Amino acid sequence: MTAELARPPVQVGPASPGDAASIARLVRRSRGECLPLSEGEVLARLGEFEVARGPGGEVLGCAAIRRAPGRAPELRSVSVDRRWRGAGIGRRLVERAAERAQAARQDLFCVSRSPEFFERIGFVRLPTSAVPWRPGAARGGRPRCALVRRSRGVVRRERGA
Ligand SMILES: CC(C)(COP(=O)(O)OP(=O)(O)OC[C@H]1O[C@@H](n2cnc3c(N)ncnc32)[C@H](O)[C@@H]1OP(=O)(O)O)[C@@H](O)C(=O)NCCC(=O)NCCS
Repeated sequence: MTAELARPPVQVGPASPGDAASIARLVRRSRGECLPLSEGEVLARLGEFEVARGPGGEVLGCAAIRRAPGRAPELRSVSVDRRWRGAGIGRRLVERAAERAQAARQDLFCVSRSPEFFERIGFVRLPTSAVPWRPGAARGGRPRCALVRRSRGVVRRERGA
């Protein structure tokens, strides 16, 4: 079944421990775009994740907000099951993450090789020098691009943006 043939009623919400294996699989299948995580690593960071569920509760996509001490929040591990891409699930996940960042009055950063996707959802590109943490070295493929989605009422921390 393809996303064009059926758009499932999708619910986006917090991940549960039983989702960890599905999340690890989704992120692994997006290797090259997302940093791979083991099931144990997902479990250890479960509170960072939200998932998109299909009608049977199956995990169709995931996204995480990493809040490392001293660093601005970073959107990571955005991945949608290949069979369901193009159905608006990635947008729902990213918009939900942006709502969480807005509720915390924090800008939301990300580093991606697919900046066009994030730009469609309100992110703007940043010069790497403006990002308050190192985005990491590219390992082949398209270059990585730093982006931010601004929230209202934020004390800005990045330089030169
Ligand atoms: C990128 C990804 C999350 C998009 O998920 P999706 O559910 O197919 O996206 P959506 O259907 O919600 O698309 C939202 C919008 O972005 C556009 N879009 C989707 N993927 C895109 C891409 N790779 N490049 C540019 N635009 C893209 C869509 O056309 C749509 O535009 P519109 O709403 O203006 O018509 C998905 O393709 C994926 O899992 N890719 C592998 C992992 C990845 O690249 N993650 C991002 C970096 S961590």
